[in-house]
Amino acid sequence: MSYHNLLIQENGSITTIAINRPKKLNALNKETIQELHDAFADADADENCRVIIITGSGDKAFVAGADISEFADFDVTQGADLARKGQELLFDFVAHLETPVIAAVNGFALGGGLELAMASHFRIASDQAKMGLPEVSLGVIPGYGGTQRLAQLVGKGKAMELIMTAGMIGAEDAKEWGLVNHVVSQEELLPLCQKIAGKIARNSGTAIAAAIRSINAGFDKSKNGFETEILEFGSLFGTEDFTEGTTAFLEKRKPAF
Ligand code: COA
Repeated sequence: MSYHNLLIQENGSITTIAINRPKKLNALNKETIQELHDAFADADADENCRVIIITGSGDKAFVAGADISEFADFDVTQGADLARKGQELLFDFVAHLETPVIAAVNGFALGGGLELAMASHFRIASDQAKMGLPEVSLGVIPGYGGTQRLAQLVGKGKAMELIMTAGMIGAEDAKEWGLVNHVVSQEELLPLCQKIAGKIARNSGTAIAAAIRSINAGFDKSKNGFETEILEFGSLFGTEDFTEGTTAFLEKRKPAF
């Protein structure tokens, strides 16, 4: 598939999706959100793809937010629709994807950009990255899950301060806060993401999908995370990957998942 606003690179079991609107600092317009949905769905359905890396093209921005020019004249109903559709199509979709998603935060990750990074399963940042949810400076609040995921990741007090001040934090602070797992130079960012993705790709994709579902269940008030874990754990005993993983261990060889 080809896209207007995305660059897709498939490298063995790793698919890298780069948002490619550098002149607009990769801001998420409606078309890009739909394309991202399609690209994530496509990679998730591809059995060769074991890990997805999402990043921004250019050196300046991961994503500088939702495209402000598209919603500046929206009314109340259109505003609610924008948030609901965006969450369904992209942010919740990514958070619940069964293929692991790593966000490689290569520059500004603001508003919808930080929300996309936070919807990803974990984040790695370059030392150039700057993160924030500046929506209250525009008279709105984060609408793509930001009020929820930021508080889950960094705690309520820090989320309150970052959102209320519309401030930005650098990569080292983001690491200290637990928002990103690692900070490296811009040049090292994609290689480190690929190295970690390579480690993930050697493990059972079926088991990883069950781990994602179990971890997510703990953050879903309609589910019991511990009960989900028990059921997911049990169901894995009926899979080929479990037979292969345990047999390989007992035969002192590497598993072939
Ligand atoms: N929506 C639409 N366009 C955006 C955008 C966004 N969220 N963020 C940046 N752009 C556009 C700018 O309008 C500009 O376009 P132009 O060249 O046609 O005028 C281009 O991207 C470059 O941005 P610019 O502001 O000139 O770069 P800068 O280096 O001076 O500032 C930022 C960088 C990130 C600080 C600044 O662009 C910014 O504050 N962006 C908005 C961030 C935001 O509020 N996001 C949350 C949205 S809900």
